[in-house]
This record gives sequence, structure tokens and C-alpha cells, in this order.
Amino acid sequence: MIRGKFITLEGGEGVGKTTNLHFISSYIQEHGIPVIVTREPGGTPLAEKIRKLLLDNDSEAVSETTELLLVFAARAQHIQHVIEPALAQGTWVICDRFTDATYAYQGGGRNMRISTIESLENWVQGTLRPDLTILLDAPVEIGLERARQRSALDRFESEKTNFFEQVRRAYLLQLELNPQRIKLIKANQPLIDVQKALIDLIQPLLK
Ligand code: TMP
Repeated sequence: MIRGKFITLEGGEGVGKTTNLHFISSYIQEHGIPVIVTREPGGTPLAEKIRKLLLDNDSEAVSETTELLLVFAARAQHIQHVIEPALAQGTWVICDRFTDATYAYQGGGRNMRISTIESLENWVQGTLRPDLTILLDAPVEIGLERARQRSALDRFESEKTNFFEQVRRAYLLQLELNPQRIKLIKANQPLIDVQKALIDLIQPLLK
């Protein structure tokens, strides 16, 4: 059995991840490949409960350490119950956010030590890393405007603009450090051009 490919989609708030996630999965399915779409934090009933804890706005102040551990607790559950079994069966996994989001939000946004995140990554994931990570990048203001129009703000969306500037910078640093795995697409261009760029990135994996 050939192992499935693991593709993750990353970016700040309101960059259009959801639309593009579905475009990617349809494109792969058209090639006769089984694929599942999932997300983080979340992807299993327990991990979705943890997601709710993380995003809830009405809780007591959440310490940065608690936040980081909850993110990785959800991830451990997701990997063991969804991601690994699917990949082992030859199913491709398309995931809305993964560990690069932890480097961006907890590392960049919250200023948590990168070496702590790395230790958790190695511990929780073993050797599991995405085969391809697509970073949708747009100026912070553009994405925030879209996110704010969408619905009530969650705990992360309620952060100040500076937080999202730090998140964006941390994503761009991840790109610089992992140029083989992470590929950037400008999100503030016509959807048709974003989709052309997505096809260019995914096509080589289909061979
Ligand atoms: P979403 O709204 O794009 O689905 O993501 C939920 C929020 O969770 C988003 O604001 C980013 C945040 N997040 C982290 O802070 N760390 C992580 O590791 C992940 C996966 C998400």
C-alpha cells in the first residue's frame, strides 16, 4: 500500500483557507485518489471539544502554557485517530492548519519559546511532517476585515492587529526555514490565480 500524502493549509485570519481547501480536495479526488479534509485544532470528537475550549471567549484567562499544551493534546488525538490511519491506508489528508500554526500563533503571537514548540512537535508527532504546506499570505488588515465580517469573534480573532502582524511574520519565518516543504501563495489576488497556483503545487505530488 502506498502511503497517502499529507497536505496542510496555513495562513492568518480571513485568507480564504476554507474555499481553497475544498478546491484542493476536489482536484485530488478528480484524479481518483481517496482524500479526507480535516482541521486543527479539531478533527475528532475529543479534539473538537478541545478546540471549543481554545476558541471560547468567555472563559477565564488562558495561560500561554495551557494554550500550547491544549493545541498539542488535540493534535495527538487527531494524529492517532485520523491522520495516521488515513495515510497508512493510502488516503490523502488535507488539513486546515497544523503545527506551522503553532509556530505562528503560540510562537509568534504569544512569544512562546521555539525550542519548547520543537520539543512538543518531536514528541507528539515523531517523524510525521506534512509532505506539502501551502501558506496563503495576505496583508493582515485585508484578512482581518474579512474575518470580522464573518461572525462573532473567537478568542484568537479578538486579538489586536499587532498579534496578527507577529503571526504573519512567524509564518514567513517558517517559510524561510522550510523552503522545500512550505510554498507561499498570495491570497490577495483573483481566486482563479490562487487556484492556478494551487494546481501547480499539487500536480507534482500526483505523479
Ligand atoms: P481557524 O479559525 O482558522 O479554524 O483556526 C482556529 C484558531 O486556532 C486560529 O485563530 C488559529 C488558532 N490556532 C493556534 O493558535 N495554534 C494552532 O496550532 C492551531 C492549529 C490553530
